[in-house]
Amino acid sequence: VYRKTGWLGAVVLLLTACEGSQSALDPAGSAAELIARLWWPTLFVATLVTLLVLTLLAVAVFRAHKKHAELPLSVRQSRNLVIAGGIILPLAATIPFALSSFSIGRTIHAPLPDDALTVEVIGKQWWWEVHYLDEAGDRIATTANEIHIPVDEPIRFLLSSDNVIHSFWVPNLQGKTDMIPGRTNLTSMTADEPGVYRGQCAEYCGTQHALMAFLLVAEAPEAFDDWLAHQRQPAREPATDAQARGREVFLEAECADCHTIRGTPADGEDGPDLTHIASRQTLAGATVPNRIGHLGGWITDPQHIKPGNKMPPSELSPEELQTLLGYLESLE
Ligand code: CUA
Repeated sequence: VYRKTGWLGAVVLLLTACEGSQSALDPAGSAAELIARLWWPTLFVATLVTLLVLTLLAVAVFRAHKKHAELPLSVRQSRNLVIAGGIILPLAATIPFALSSFSIGRTIHAPLPDDALTVEVIGKQWWWEVHYLDEAGDRIATTANEIHIPVDEPIRFLLSSDNVIHSFWVPNLQGKTDMIPGRTNLTSMTADEPGVYRGQCAEYCGTQHALMAFLLVAEAPEAFDDWLAHQRQPAREPATDAQARGREVFLEAECADCHTIRGTPADGEDGPDLTHIASRQTLAGATVPNRIGHLGGWITDPQHIKPGNKMPPSELSPEELQTLLGYLESLE
């Protein structure tokens, strides 16, 4: 029974894998479109070659089994066989793909105009630090694990890491680009359709590589402008006494050693910037939805949700935790 359901599950997975918010075969941008267009003929030819090889292998095994009397090939026949099967056929099958891969690679990584919107993304273990840059290259807004972009506009990404190698990948929009310590890699992408696309780290980077994800929100230009203008603001002031007490808890516990909340003395740099944490859809690198219950669970016992991550458990009293949560929930 287990084996049957396993097979059924695998088939269903295969059938559904072509659609969705994290699929290279459901393109929502021109770069991903070209990649998908190359992928389908590659699959077709690779399948044909595999079937051909398996058929020949089966014939050979069958004939050996039957102990057919074989006439040995002449030297000339052997030579022709090696030239045809070992050189001409593989080259004929691979050269067209090499050429179109090269040409598509040049197209999807063509340089953008200097005034294109630039987003700097730094790979962390295991989350994403995100900065928006102005035309002079200065950081004007900082967030984490959720990247907003306007639709129909090419966006430049500057990618780096200050720890191990990661890889930045939004399958619906563009191919992977590695984030390598000590250098800055470039990629770009354009979203043709508004939507929320899931990005995933595509280079093994430690225990929680699989849960190193982010959301890429492509939205109308006006909505994006509003979002960016809001992200540039410092955190809102506490509106109630309870929120003010929550802020005190944040500053007095060790939270402020690792996290920044702009507009408060908290300026730690090891963890994500929390200035507008309540405006994000997820927590912990798109691991759980950003709801108060998950946030409480994360603060109390982050190692349970994402073992190995760098956030220590808190020792807050239930009352302190409640006021802290109330404050963080107000940081829209
Ligand atoms: Cu970061 Cu895998």
